[in-house]
Amino acid sequence: MICASLGAATIAGCATVAADTDYRQAALDMIRQDFHSAGPATVERVAVRDEAQQLCSQYPKERPPEVVARIEAAQLAAVKAPADGKYLGAWQEGEKIAQNGRGMQSSDAVGAVNGGNCYACHQISKKEISFGNIGPSLYQYGKLRGNSDATLSYTWNKLYNAQAYSACSNMPRFGHNGILTEAQLKDVMALLLDPKSPVNE
Ligand code: HEC
Repeated sequence: MICASLGAATIAGCATVAADTDYRQAALDMIRQDFHSAGPATVERVAVRDEAQQLCSQYPKERPPEVVARIEAAQLAAVKAPADGKYLGAWQEGEKIAQNGRGMQSSDAVGAVNGGNCYACHQISKKEISFGNIGPSLYQYGKLRGNSDATLSYTWNKLYNAQAYSACSNMPRFGHNGILTEAQLKDVMALLLDPKSPVNE
């Protein structure tokens, strides 16, 4: 049980988990019975939650600091740095990935290349005037933060697993969940950090 492993006595709300378990199981049974996998959109993606997802559902609003710390530490520990130690790919490819909203849907082919859909939530390049604002503007990201090792690794970790720094973030965990490949992550890194990228003009 999550509560037991966190130390049930210290976390408010844990006592209710056992009582809820039957309802959760019934809901999961319904999902498994009535949902059907189609292409890369599998029932498992709905029915199986990892520990971070379980804790985020368990504490949808106010999260005890120890829960936040536990999620962020575990997510950060699971980040894989680029194998060759190089963080920046090609910003031109990164822009295409940021624009691409396809991937992991029932209408996509299994194994198709996914996009990052970054503009759905962020302003990035000034040229793109259609963007969402769930996330902060990333325009001039590299110009404002520079290219230090600390910035490179923070940004990589953030893209790889947004919850490493922000438990229960709305931002997809691109590397962690295999949405973007290592090469794609490098290209998106370059979009944000390469001084020649239009983001930093
Ligand atoms: C569904 C919405 C969503 C999508 C899609 C999304 N993000 Fe985010 N992103 C957020 C939110 C919300 C935050 C702020 C909260 C947080 O830090 O997790 C954020 C934060 C960030 C940050 C940290 C900003 C800072 O000031 O430290 C970076 C960098 C970032 N996103 C890059 C990206 C990139 C690149 C993509 C595409 C590969 C992307 N995001 C896709 C929602 C999203």
